[in-house]
Amino acid sequence: MANKVAGTTAKILEREQPVPTQAEVAVLAACARHGNQPDALLEILHDVQHQLGYVPDATLPAIAKALNRSRAEIYGVVTFYHDFKRHPVGKHVIKICRAESCQAMGTDQLCRHAEQSLNVPLGGTTADGSVTIEQVFCLGNCALSPAIMVGETLYGKVDAKRFDEIISGLEKEAAE
Ligand code: FES
Repeated sequence: MANKVAGTTAKILEREQPVPTQAEVAVLAACARHGNQPDALLEILHDVQHQLGYVPDATLPAIAKALNRSRAEIYGVVTFYHDFKRHPVGKHVIKICRAESCQAMGTDQLCRHAEQSLNVPLGGTTADGSVTIEQVFCLGNCALSPAIMVGETLYGKVDAKRFDEIISGLEKEAAE
C-alpha cells in the first residue's frame, strides 16, 4: 500500500515538475548570472546565444518566468534584434554584406557564388552543419567592398576566388 502511494506521489510530482531540458538549465543559469534582472535581458540573451549557439524558442517561457516578464515581451525582443538566432547555426557563420557599397562592387555575384559553391541558400546552413551564410547590411568595411565576416574576422575585396580560399582554409582548420 505504502509503495503504491509513494509511486502515485512520484508520478504526480513528475507531472507537475517536468525535468528542465539542458537548454532550460543553461537559460536559467544565464538569468541567474545576471541577477534575474529584466533590465539585463539583452545581456542574458547574448549569454544564452553564447552558451547554446542560438536562443531556442522553447526556452523563452523559462526566461519570461525567471525575469517575471510576459512571454510576448521576451519573444518581441528576440525577434526584433536580428543578431539573435532562433535556430541552430553552422560551426562557422559567414556574413556577406549586401549594402550599397558592396552592391556596387559585386556582392550579388559573390552571394550567388557562395550559394552555389556551398549548395545552400542565403540564411541556410550546409548539410554537414559546418557553415551558415547570412546576408547583412554593412560591416563597416565599405572601403574594401565587397566585405564578408567569418566569425569575428573581417575580410575585404572578396571575390569568388577569395571566397573559395577562405572556405578551404576553414575546411583545413577543421581537418587538423
Ligand atoms: S556596404 Fe558593405 S561593408 Fe559597408
